[in-house]
Formats: sequence, structure tokens, C-alpha cells
Amino acid sequence: MTALSRRLVLGGAAAAAAIGGLPLAGGTAQAGPRALREGLDYAVRKLRAVAPGISRFPEETKFEKWIYTDSGGWVGGFWPGLLWLAHLETKDPLFRRLAEESAERLAPRRTDLGTHDLGFLFYPSWVTAYRVTGEREWRDGAIQASDSLIRRYNTKGRFIRAWGNINDPGNAGRVIIDTMMNLDLLFFASKETGDAKYSTIAVEHARTTAKYFLRPDGSTPHVYDFDPATGTPIGPNTVQGYSPTSCWSRGQAWGMYGFTTVYRRTGQREFLDVATKLADHVLPYLRIDPVPIWDYRSPYAPHDIRDSSAGAITACALLDLAKITGNNRYRETAVSVLNAITDTCLTTKSSRAEAIVGRGTRHRGAEGGIEVSLPYGDYYYVEALLRLFRPAELAAAIGL
Ligand code: GLY
Repeated sequence: MTALSRRLVLGGAAAAAAIGGLPLAGGTAQAGPRALREGLDYAVRKLRAVAPGISRFPEETKFEKWIYTDSGGWVGGFWPGLLWLAHLETKDPLFRRLAEESAERLAPRRTDLGTHDLGFLFYPSWVTAYRVTGEREWRDGAIQASDSLIRRYNTKGRFIRAWGNINDPGNAGRVIIDTMMNLDLLFFASKETGDAKYSTIAVEHARTTAKYFLRPDGSTPHVYDFDPATGTPIGPNTVQGYSPTSCWSRGQAWGMYGFTTVYRRTGQREFLDVATKLADHVLPYLRIDPVPIWDYRSPYAPHDIRDSSAGAITACALLDLAKITGNNRYRETAVSVLNAITDTCLTTKSSRAEAIVGRGTRHRGAEGGIEVSLPYGDYYYVEALLRLFRPAELAAAIGL
């Protein structure tokens, strides 16, 4: 296959339309409320079929079959989280039992001082478990994980370091946009304990991120580096995006969702302003092709591979922003993203596939995980659909 024809095949609905082979961008002609309902039903059917056979944490697929991590890596919260979402939708005790068993396997990570990903790990799994079951062990474990997370706070630079053990000087000054998603664990801990130390750090980190990551046009880099000893800013960088000046679509989505959440928890307008700037930046891209390209500034844009997980996260964030602001443009765009994922990315036609959503990109720059399924793609796709179809139950479970 030539580079050009491969790019057309991988390049999403817009590129496909250009050669007349597949539905037009957005797939809105085929998808709609009924299609989204069918997407949710399909997700539940797929989980019912595969979940009883899974006892580790899905990380990504290789030729449509899950490959696993035993420790949970950074993704271990999404599998129990997805099972909790399936339980909300069906009330089936099978999903509750599997969700509890899976969440329980994360217990050793509560004291992990090697990563910022404790929110990703413990929010969809243990915080949701507490909200659904009322069992105190989940709450207590989530607070323990918060105690681990705040040890990563750099008081000079007012940020939570992303990577590396807290005693490791390597990466000590590295901040990433993804961390915005780990802050809600800290708001949960403050609410439960009455101790503001957690939420204070969350707010400080969000302010630092807003100050250094937000570009005037509303785009963001993946990484910003600081001198860890003095807190002096060094400059933007990237690991998963195309370049320090590009805009990695999943990172932009993490930022959108994260800043909206910080506004929800604090009521402070500065955070809503950031969230809307990030969202307004991506709306024009999504109008052209609602399944985001992996990096909005890829030099091959718009004919480059997609990241359906970025689309699913973006849809969740836009639905939340629509609810908060009453701006219907956000809701319409979210629905068109979900329609496009449903129409062009689901695994419905495969007899091999173990996941729900295909066409995700884990790490394009490292040539790792391209055109795969990702547990966060599945999780946020189902979360977004529950925002539409079961808003009250979802709000109670994830704290909306
Ligand atoms: N948080 C890592 C990623 O989004 O790939």
C-alpha cells in the first residue's frame, strides 16, 4: 500500500469522502438518537460477552484482542469504571461483582509514589464504587490515594509533577496537561475529610496549568517544563503530541474535561473561561471531521490518523460544558462527535474484536498503538452516552 493510499484509508471520514468510499464527515446522515441508543446497547452486549473472561486490566488491543497490564499501569481505573457504567445502565449484579473484583485489584496502587495517574486509577473505580455501594473501604482507599498524589506537589512551582518517583530527580519539573484529570480525586478527598489541603493543591495546580499551557488561540501543548528547584518556567514540550507547538487532541480533551470539572467543584469563573477557550478552539476542527485527528496540527492534517478516544473524551467535556453554560453549540458538537464514532469507529462488524470502539491512537510519535482500541476510548464513549441517556444515575455515580 502506498503512503498516500494508506493515509486515505486511515484518514477518517473526510478523507474517505474525498474518494467517495464511505459516509461523509460526521456520519450524521446515518447516525442519530436511535443509532446512539444502539451504540450503548452494543457496548453492553460486548461487555456481557467479554468481561467474565477478563481478570486483568486491558491496556490496548493488538489486532482487536486486548493485551493486559497486571499492575494497572495508568489505565487500570477504566476497566472497573466501565463495568460500573454497565451496571448503571443494566442494574445487572454480574457487572457489579466484576466491577468490585476488578477495582479491588488496584488496592496496592493506593500508595504508589511513582505516578500522578492516581486520579485516572481511583476515580472511575473506587470513588464510583463508593458512590454506588456506600461502602466505606472504597472511600478510604480513594483518600489514601489522594495522600499519595499530594506528595508530588512542588511548592515552588505550584504544580503536581507528572512522572517519576517523588525521590527521582529525573522529570521532577515536568508537568503535563493530562494531570488536569487527576484533580477531581483531590476535590473528593477534601469534601469527604473536610480538610482543604487536597483541594488547595488541585486549585493551585489548575492555575499553574492555565497560566502556562493555555495559548492565546485556546490550544495547548502536551507538556510544560519547569526548573524543579526554583519553580522557574522553562517552556512547552511534548511527548505524545507532534511538537511543542502542536495540539495533541487527547491532551486538549483532557484539559477541556479537567478545567470544566475544576469549575464544577470550585465555581471559580477563571476555570470555566479556560475550559470554554479550549473547547472553542476545537469546534472548527470537529465541524470538518468530528472524529479528531490525533494531533490537530499534524503536518498531514486533515489526512492523518484519528484518535477516537480523544473524540469520546471531548464529547463528555462538551456535554458537561453545555450543561453548565447552556450553550447548545457544545451539545450539538458533542452529539455529532458521538454520531461519527458510532458510525465509523465501533467494532460492530468484527467477529474478533473484544473492545467496543476501534480507531484509537495511543502514541503516534512512538509508532505505538495506532488504529487500536483503548480502554479509555470505551470508557468515555459509554460515559458520554450515559450523559445523554441516564443523566441522573450517571451524575450520582461520578459526581456531576
Ligand atoms: N494519559 C496518557 C494518555 O492520554 O495517553
